[in-house]
This record gives sequence, C-alpha cells and structure tokens, in this order.
Amino acid sequence: MMEKNLPIRALLSERAAFVERALEEALSPENIGSSATADAMRYSVLGGGKRIRAFLVLAFADLGGGREDAALPFACAMECLHAYSLIHDDLPAMDNDDLRRGKPSCHIAFGESAALLAGDALLTYAFELLASDPSVSAKSVREAVLILSREAGEFSGMVGGQTLDMALSVDSLGELQTLFLEKTCALLKASCLLGLYAATDSPDPDLIDRAERYARALGLAFQIRDDILDATSTAEALGKPIGSDARNDKKTALRFMTVEEAQKRVEELTAEAVDAVRGIEGGQILADLAVLLAERKA
Ligand code: IPE
Ligand code: IPE
Ligand code: MG
Ligand code: MG
Ligand code: MG
Repeated sequence: MMEKNLPIRALLSERAAFVERALEEALSPENIGSSATADAMRYSVLGGGKRIRAFLVLAFADLGGGREDAALPFACAMECLHAYSLIHDDLPAMDNDDLRRGKPSCHIAFGESAALLAGDALLTYAFELLASDPSVSAKSVREAVLILSREAGEFSGMVGGQTLDMALSVDSLGELQTLFLEKTCALLKASCLLGLYAATDSPDPDLIDRAERYARALGLAFQIRDDILDATSTAEALGKPIGSDARNDKKTALRFMTVEEAQKRVEELTAEAVDAVRGIEGGQILADLAVLLAERKA
C-alpha cells in the first residue's frame, strides 16, 4: 500500500527509490548479462529520471485495489520502455543531444551502435517483464501487452508521435496536439492503464475512463512544460541540453504561443487532470502530482 500521508514531493522520491531497487534487480548481470549492450542498458535506466511513469503504474494499481508487488514489474517495464525512447530520441539521427539526466547521452558514452542495441533490448525487455510478472493473471498480462504495444507503437502511439516530430511539418495547434498525444500522452496512458490491469483483469470502466482523461491532460501539460523548459531553463537544472528544439527547428508549443500563454495552457490542462481524478479514493496524490509537474523545473 502507498503511504498516502506523505507530501507529493516526498512520496515521489520514496517511490522512485523503491522502483530503483527493483530496476537494479531486473537489470542485474544475473538477469541481463554483462555485455556492452547490457552495460549501456543499465547506464541509461539506472540512477536518474523522475520515474513518473512508474509512479503512475503504482498509483493506479493502488486506486484499483491492487498490491504493489504485483504492479512493480509493470512499473519497471514502463521505465525500460521510456528509457529506450529517450536513448533513440537523443541519437544524432533524431534530436542529436549529448546530455541526458545530467550525464553524457547513451551514444556519447557507449557509441551509436551500442545505443541503438540498448534501446532495442530495453524495448523487448519491457515486454519480457510484463509477461513474467508472477502475481497477475494471464488475462491481465495479455491486456498489458496489448496496451503497451499499441501505446508505444506507430499507429497513434509514441513512435507515431516521434514520426510526426521528425517530419517537422506541423502547421497548426491542432496538429501539434496530435503529435503530443502520440509522443508523450500515449506512454503516460499506458502507465495508468497498466496499473489498473496489475490490480485486476477487469478494471472498473469508470476508472479506465478517468485514467484516459487524466493521462491525456497530464501528458499535454507535461510536453508543453517540457517545451517551455527547453527554451527557458539551464542544462545544469534540466540535465539535458537547452535550446535543442530551436536548434532542430522543432515545432513546439512556443511556435504557436508565448511562454506566458503556454504556461497558462499548462495550468488549464492541469486543472483538467485534477478534475479527472476528483472524488475517488486515492485520487488526491494524482491531483497533487499533476500540480507538482506543472511547476517543475526539470
Ligand atoms: C522526457 O520525459 C521525455 C518527454 C516526454 C518530454 P521525462 O521528463 O519524464 O524524463 P525523465 O524520465 O524524468 O528523465
Ligand atoms: C521526446 O520529446 C519524447 C519521446 C517520445 C522520447 P523531446 O525530444 O522533447 O524529449 P526530451 O526533451 O529530449 O526529453
Ligand atoms: Mg525529440
Ligand atoms: Mg529530445
Ligand atoms: Mg523536449
């Protein structure tokens, strides 16, 4: 059970430490070997990141009445899949960024071929983690595999969003929203739904609906805030290069609005996320998380 009385900042770091221990075990040499690719996987997954996606898995599992230990492999799967998306996102062929989570990007530290392979291996390992969770039913695993493959993939998933992002041909706010829904919201939605399916193999339809609304609003706010930070923060604070979007001529929220207007939109979307989890037991920490992320500095 989650300790719900901690303030959100403390709860997030307590959950991050809990997930870190599970990831260390999942990615230990006993489990994934000690090749150069395995070293690059550990380098990119361990010791950094806000662990928002893992937090969402655990929080939604709790909301659905599930056990934390059953949800933990799903939480680790989301962090492995997310780390793969970041490794590939940083490659010279994509955003060409040499700093990630305050250290050299995977391809800088290990070379491009190792970074490609580490990303590939983390993507497949995420599905291995889902399928080998000993504490959930076969039906829950099947649903989780379907959800994660769809939300991570090309058709309306994260890869689809990255495809639009690379095309640079976004001409309206509506198109930009579609890009954000795919590249960012999709993995957050998968995290929330995986939490519900870790708790039970037939989640309450009302909770599924709330999870989808929450992830949509949270993800849009999250990506707009990420775009603001890319333009206004420092590499030291962010742990990744600033000005990357301008250098790559990316279509970001700031192509269509000022920083002030963009932050106002972050706040409106945050209110929508808060509304999606209003009145449900355990919903307050998710509301608090949305508010914390709207003001984050990294
Ligand atoms: C970065 O995600 C990629 C985006 C969707 C903007 P996070 O900001 O969650 O990255 P980590 O895991 O904390 O490093
Ligand atoms: C990428 O968005 C989101 C992914 C699917 C990896 P960004 O390119 O803006 O993410 P950062 O700023 O590099 O973390
Ligand atoms: Mg990118
Ligand atoms: Mg990037
Ligand atoms: Mg960015």
